[in-house]
Amino acid sequence: MSTFDLIDHEIEAYCEEHSTPESELLYRLNRQTHLETINPRMLSGQLQGLFLTMVARMMRPRFVVEVGTFTGYSALCLADGLAPDGMLHTIERNIEYEDRIRDYIAQSPLHDRIELHIGDARDVIPTLDITWDLCFIDAEKEDYEEYYDLLLPRTRTGGFLLVDNALWNGKVAGEVATNDHDTHAILAFNDKVQRDPRVRNLLLPFRDGIMMIEKTM
Ligand SMILES: C[S@@+](CC[C@H](N)C(=O)[O-])C[C@H]1O[C@@H](n2cnc3c(N)ncnc32)[C@H](O)[C@@H]1O
Repeated sequence: MSTFDLIDHEIEAYCEEHSTPESELLYRLNRQTHLETINPRMLSGQLQGLFLTMVARMMRPRFVVEVGTFTGYSALCLADGLAPDGMLHTIERNIEYEDRIRDYIAQSPLHDRIELHIGDARDVIPTLDITWDLCFIDAEKEDYEEYYDLLLPRTRTGGFLLVDNALWNGKVAGEVATNDHDTHAILAFNDKVQRDPRVRNLLLPFRDGIMMIEKTM
């Protein structure tokens, strides 16, 4: 089975073979991330990256924010769908990734449409006087509710939030140890969204689960 046991390896490989290949830039970033970082599995990869690009291209958003840049893979994918005058703001708190992120942004034809903020998203988001069309949350699981509470009021009605790891390796469906704080955080987050009358939501069983949230009021 695949990394997260949601889809058989062979089926996943078939999907990859029948989806548009990574650009040369994304391929190099993916490869370098695997060679040089401790936890390369955090990177979105071909299928999820394409999913983000597709969503962005369907929406053509002007303002996109990403919480959790890592090495910049998903940022490059999201930027690929921006409106002609659109901007992607991506926030990463680990300063060790900064040079690599800036290097890859600089190599992208979309380099002037991506702004990197180094810092904790909980501090950075309130400083950005922007109403978001699309938000991608992919950072510390225990802080998901905080990112959501900060971003939903700053998202336009009809805008979307995509939240990664909503199935957390399938752990959301089983017995959860008391000290498994990440799983408890994801469970609390998913329940909070499910109860929120301001949104329409779909927990998509794709990769590690993506909670798709439309702000309806
Ligand atoms: C799963 S990785 C992001 C992967 C990336 N979105 C991709 O698809 O390639 C999570 C990242 O979030 C960062 N992070 C965690 N908490 C954060 C916070 N409060 N503010 C900003 N970045 C944070 C981590 O340092 C890590 O690089």
